[in-house]
Amino acid sequence: MCGIVAYIGAKQARPLLIEGLKRLEYRGYDSAGIAVLNGAVSVVRTVGRVSVLEDRLAESGDLKGSVGIAHTRWATHGEPAERNAHPHVDDRHGIALIHNGIIENYAALRTWLEEQGHTFTSETDTEVLTMLISELYDGDLEKAVQGALREVTGAYALAAICEKEPDTLVVARKGSPLMVGVGADEYIVASDASAIVAHTSRAVTLDDYQVCKLTRDSFRTSTLDNVAVTPRIQELELELEQIELGDYPHYMIKEIFEQPNSLRNTMRGRIDLREGRVVLGGVGQYARELVKARRFILLGQGTALHAAMIGEYLLEDLAKVPAEVEYSSEFRYRNPIIEEGTVIIAVSQSGETADTLSALHEAKERGALALGVVNVVGSSIARDTDAGVYLRVGPEIGVASTKAFTGQLSVLTLLSLFIARRRFMSVEQSSEILRTMERIPEMVERVLAESDQIRAVTERYCDRENWLFLGRGYNYPTALEGALKLKEISYIHAEGMPAAEMKHGPIALINHGMPVVFIANKGAQYEKVMSNIEEVRSRGGRVIAVATEGDTDIKRYAEDVFYIPEIPEALSPLLAVVPLQLMAYHAAVIRGHDVDKPRNLAKSVTVE
Ligand code: M6R
Repeated sequence: MCGIVAYIGAKQARPLLIEGLKRLEYRGYDSAGIAVLNGAVSVVRTVGRVSVLEDRLAESGDLKGSVGIAHTRWATHGEPAERNAHPHVDDRHGIALIHNGIIENYAALRTWLEEQGHTFTSETDTEVLTMLISELYDGDLEKAVQGALREVTGAYALAAICEKEPDTLVVARKGSPLMVGVGADEYIVASDASAIVAHTSRAVTLDDYQVCKLTRDSFRTSTLDNVAVTPRIQELELELEQIELGDYPHYMIKEIFEQPNSLRNTMRGRIDLREGRVVLGGVGQYARELVKARRFILLGQGTALHAAMIGEYLLEDLAKVPAEVEYSSEFRYRNPIIEEGTVIIAVSQSGETADTLSALHEAKERGALALGVVNVVGSSIARDTDAGVYLRVGPEIGVASTKAFTGQLSVLTLLSLFIARRRFMSVEQSSEILRTMERIPEMVERVLAESDQIRAVTERYCDRENWLFLGRGYNYPTALEGALKLKEISYIHAEGMPAAEMKHGPIALINHGMPVVFIANKGAQYEKVMSNIEEVRSRGGRVIAVATEGDTDIKRYAEDVFYIPEIPEALSPLLAVVPLQLMAYHAAVIRGHDVDKPRNLAKSVTVE
């Protein structure tokens, strides 16, 4: 959502903080700011990207000092404006604070703090927290932060400095990620590992309700009640080159092209062809519960929800167990019924999506066994589920999710087979599906090779402002995903729906030249999809079809065709989504948009 980076050590903080902010910018980018201690606390804040902050710093001269904090923001309270950007500084002691998350009781606290004589200059909950720390400050920043956090409800990851304690940095976490990179006589704190890995591979991930006080050569972690906690230093699994762009112009296209390899990683070591078995270490100890489960509920948002929708089909079709899918944001608030034998599956790339995290907590409270299908190792959802399967697709930095989606589909397929094989599926049937899965990375390579043709076709349509994406069965969620990809980065209005639904109303939208993308691969409903295509054509719509290699007939129906290799329907979304990802990417580039940082968005949404 927002990015935090903080430094204490012997080096100049400013260049290090700016470099960290650039790495974290995908987490939010409507404003940015930095504060450095050098006698006094010096703050520079700007609206817009980190590059704007850099320019401002160049104008305003060097910010010298070896203790500092910096932030890149995605607005929650208050519009993107300089006064609302972090860091916020109090009005008494020279305390500067950066914060991710939301302080839910900020309004009541603000009224009380105003009564105590504090003056506010922004609309943010973060300024309220800054003033609360200030109000409790009596010469010990760590104590004041602990005291303030005992008073607040909500979520936070924060970092604070104070000009009266020039050798101290205090950080804390609840419900929003924060890790402390441990270097040689220096510490780099950040909301994700990408801002740390260039400096050290050793880090402590803070737990909820933990505070960490850092000086230049030591640190201590404690609870909010100041009980010392022994920190666990771990090796970061992230390599610097995984988060570099390399020769690609954007992270999104890099990540689309990484899919053959990311899929190989997702499947590596998890397939036993001889026995037709799937090996999933993360859920192995719950195999019995999964086999006996009476119902699965899959939860997610955005792209993760679309993967979950396909997961529902997979679990019912392959494992023959009832499954349903729901927006995690809706699940919690409709008083859901969790009976014995209910297993929930939280699907999330970041593992930090607040809606999904809350839904997961609700389901656990009601007694469900909770599994996670998550990419980021050690993330909140990964930690709070009973068990899970990691995607292993590597860091996804482009705001538009691509390789995580295909990773989620692979994991959900493997999980369905894990259960199916233990319930009733024969070695032969399971092995055949698994054998096909192993060929998918090479099939994805074939689809990627069509990128230039896909760009040429996209170029012809991308001045149109309204598109439809239609599919049936397994590829109805793929259609939703195609529409989401297009709208979020190219700002074209796109709707996805089941192809058959079109004639129940949306067909009224179709006018001359409207692009309508059909996922029309060979499958049980192929003929019906052809009828739906006819309905569109006869009203002047321009049909772009994703079809199965060898299907030459479709050229009679569709203006343009993108081919995918022949594959069983259950696995077809893994291929069918790739041309849609490429179309969305090319449309955004042609229309001149910032593909990796689309307007109003942030990579991970850590507020409900
Ligand atoms: O990190 P998560 O997978 O939980 O994120 C869920 C959605 O916010 C995410 O998929 C979002 O819809 C993407 N921008 C889609 O490309």
